[in-house]
Amino acid sequence: MKKIIVLIAVFTIIFLSCEKQEEVVLSPLTVSEISGERLWERISVESDFQNYSQWDDHDGLRPGQSPHGAWHKVYANKLLYDSLPVTGGRVPEGSIIVKENYTSSKELDKLTVMAKVQGYSPETNDWFWAAFSPEGEVLAEGSPGGCISCHSGLKANDYIIIKNIDEP
Ligand code: HEC
Repeated sequence: MKKIIVLIAVFTIIFLSCEKQEEVVLSPLTVSEISGERLWERISVESDFQNYSQWDDHDGLRPGQSPHGAWHKVYANKLLYDSLPVTGGRVPEGSIIVKENYTSSKELDKLTVMAKVQGYSPETNDWFWAAFSPEGEVLAEGSPGGCISCHSGLKANDYIIIKNIDEP
C-alpha cells in the first residue's frame, strides 16, 4: 500500500512539473523603457514566452519560409491572444509575438520578436522588432528595414503574416 502511495505521489509531481505554467500578464512596455535587452527580459525573465499561447491552426513546430528558417514555432502573449478578433487592423498595445526559428535539422537558431509599444513608431503601427540568439544576445532591434519591408505586405493585417487578426 505504501508503495502505491509513493508511486502516485511521484507521478503527480512529474505531471505537475510538466504542465504548462499560467502566463503572467504584465503592463505593456513603454517607449521610454523599450530596448532589445528590455524586451528579452520581458519574454524570458518577467514572463516565459514558452507559456504564451499558440494559435490552433499554427501550433507546434511548423514549416517556415526564408529568412526565418526551415521550421518555426510562433507564440502570442495572452494580451494579444485574448484580444482577437480585432477590427480596424490594429492589435492592442502590449501585444508580443515571439517566433522561434529552427534550422532544417530542427535546432533552435534564433528568435524574432514583434512587440507593440504605444507611440514607438506610429508610421509602422508602433511595432518594435528584435532578433535574438537562443541565449538572448540582441542581434537586431528597433525598426530594421528588412523586417519592415517584408512584413509591410501585410500592413492591413497589422504586419502579422501567419494569423488573420479579424478572426478569433
Ligand atoms: C524576407 C521576408 C521577411 C523578413 C526580412 C522578415 N520576416 Fe518575419 N516573417 C516572414 C514570413 C513569410 C513569416 C510567416 C512565417 C514563415 O513563413 O516563416 C514571418 C513571421 C514572423 C513572425 C511571426 C508573426 C507573423 O508575422 O506571422 C515574427 C514575430 C517575425 N516574422 C518577426 C520578424 C523580425 C523581427 C524580422 C527582422 C529581424 C523579420 N521578421 C524579418 C517574412 C519575413
